[in-house]
Amino acid sequence: MSRGATTSVDRRAADHLANRAEMLERLAEVQAVQAEVLEGGGERYVARHRQRGRMLVRERIDLLIDPDSAFLELSPLAGWGTDDPLGGGLVTGVGLVEGVTCVISANDPTVRGGTSSPTTVAKGLRAQEIAATNRLPLINLTESGGADLPRQAEIFVPGGATFKGLTRLSAAGIPTVTLVFGSSTAGGAYVPGLSDYTVLVADQAQVFLGGPPLVKMAIDEDADEEELGGAAMHARISGLADFLATDERDALRLGRLIVRRLGRRRPPGPPTPPEDPILDPEELLGIVGPDVRVPFDVREILTRVVDRSEFDEFKPLYGAQLVCGWATLCGYPVGILANNGILFSAESQKGAQFIQLCNRSDTPLLFVQNITGFMVGTRYEQGGIIKHGSQLINAVSNSTVPHLTLMVGASYGAGNYAMSGRAYDPRFVFSWPSHRIAVMGPKQLAGVMSIVARAAAQRAGREVDEEAESVRSQAIEAQIEAESTALYATGHLWDDGIIDPRHTRTVLGIALAAVHAAPVAGSRSFGVFRL
Ligand code: COA
Repeated sequence: MSRGATTSVDRRAADHLANRAEMLERLAEVQAVQAEVLEGGGERYVARHRQRGRMLVRERIDLLIDPDSAFLELSPLAGWGTDDPLGGGLVTGVGLVEGVTCVISANDPTVRGGTSSPTTVAKGLRAQEIAATNRLPLINLTESGGADLPRQAEIFVPGGATFKGLTRLSAAGIPTVTLVFGSSTAGGAYVPGLSDYTVLVADQAQVFLGGPPLVKMAIDEDADEEELGGAAMHARISGLADFLATDERDALRLGRLIVRRLGRRRPPGPPTPPEDPILDPEELLGIVGPDVRVPFDVREILTRVVDRSEFDEFKPLYGAQLVCGWATLCGYPVGILANNGILFSAESQKGAQFIQLCNRSDTPLLFVQNITGFMVGTRYEQGGIIKHGSQLINAVSNSTVPHLTLMVGASYGAGNYAMSGRAYDPRFVFSWPSHRIAVMGPKQLAGVMSIVARAAAQRAGREVDEEAESVRSQAIEAQIEAESTALYATGHLWDDGIIDPRHTRTVLGIALAAVHAAPVAGSRSFGVFRL
């Protein structure tokens, strides 16, 4: 049953080369957007920030994490395709501090003074969720003007969850540390206020519920900024600061010291030594084509990601369009469910069984999505496709081992749900640039709308204006196409980031190390399976 390093991929074949060229083109598009994010708020604001002698947000993170360790940045392109600043003016991710895997959430003060747009709020809450579900310490690097005031209606109510989340982490025994580098006003003041540990940078950090203008408006007091909320005042008088750092480097040193003193047990690491795949991950670029209807063997992806390219397949002859099996990835055992075509009844039942087995053995699950949906049609409805699909969704929903989801191709319809899409709480979700996501394919959706419109016209005894219908149909198809891209999805935080296919193993390896910070315990109870 073990599938070793066998492959049908021919890296010189015309289709492989065409797929590779297309993937590299999409990757270049993603990288161009990434380059924009790295510019922060733009040249003018970056220059002003530097003139003030301050470090840029990614420089702060670099100095916080362990030397030569990787920082897995999450949702860097959040906000793409929205009115919000790209990246949300917040950098979040997972990194090692003193050997402890931590979640880091850091304002970029060059982006509108580090203020919060709806994307900032959603991205920050997602970082807290990752800290909570994986029991990872959360480190905030704070320098933020609080709410983006003209847009307050969009963020005021949902933004309240940020502070609730912080204190709930603390209540759950998950450490929270906040290093304040600059202004932290109004709502922002509760970030240090609700953290377990705080460090404020002298002559830089200013934390107040209301800044001098507001104090003037509210109580007609002419307040001095340093006396009102300066770092030295908070260290000596209010007690909000646990540590007064002499400068930014000192604050980052103190942040590391705090993590060292948390006394957190370092995770034991993977149970077996990681071993690279035998098959070349470079070939991952040429497997998935631009047309989601062209099938490919998903095993060609799995064997370029898992240790030694070894994949032990479960029930290979049954429900063959859902590939299930076991592997180790960077030394961690995983159960894998990967689409090799549409989901029929047999595939659904096989998947439900496999998920139960992995829960029994406390094995984390990796879902690899390339799914256009469940099979439709009279034969399949009569065969019980709804019941069987429900069994799979039941198993996915009630499974308690960590799920990682990788979207490599299509993610349409309930197939997204059954394969642990975002709404099913996978611990991490990553996409390839080839990813497409929607309730159904754009052509199908436009076709359905056209049939519905024609039926309505017929009922009303109206002639169908073929020209107008064709224009309308094309417009719908173009709209759905534009809303289905990997960039659109990542812009709306439907994933934790688009990754280069060649980095899949590294990214999933970091994610697996992160999920093992919390106990991995499978469920013994699922919903009632309708048989
Ligand atoms: N909402 C919307 N935009 C804001 C903002 C806010 N809360 N705070 C700052 N901005 C904008 C500024 O208008 C400016 O935009 P512009 O460059 O297009 O003119 C940009 O962000 C940078 O602000 P600036 O004041 O030039 O930067 P700074 O680094 O000198 O100061 C702050 C940053 C955050 C300290 C300062 O802007 C400030 O005190 N803002 C108000 C904070 C506040 O009272 N928040 C209440 C939240 S409930």
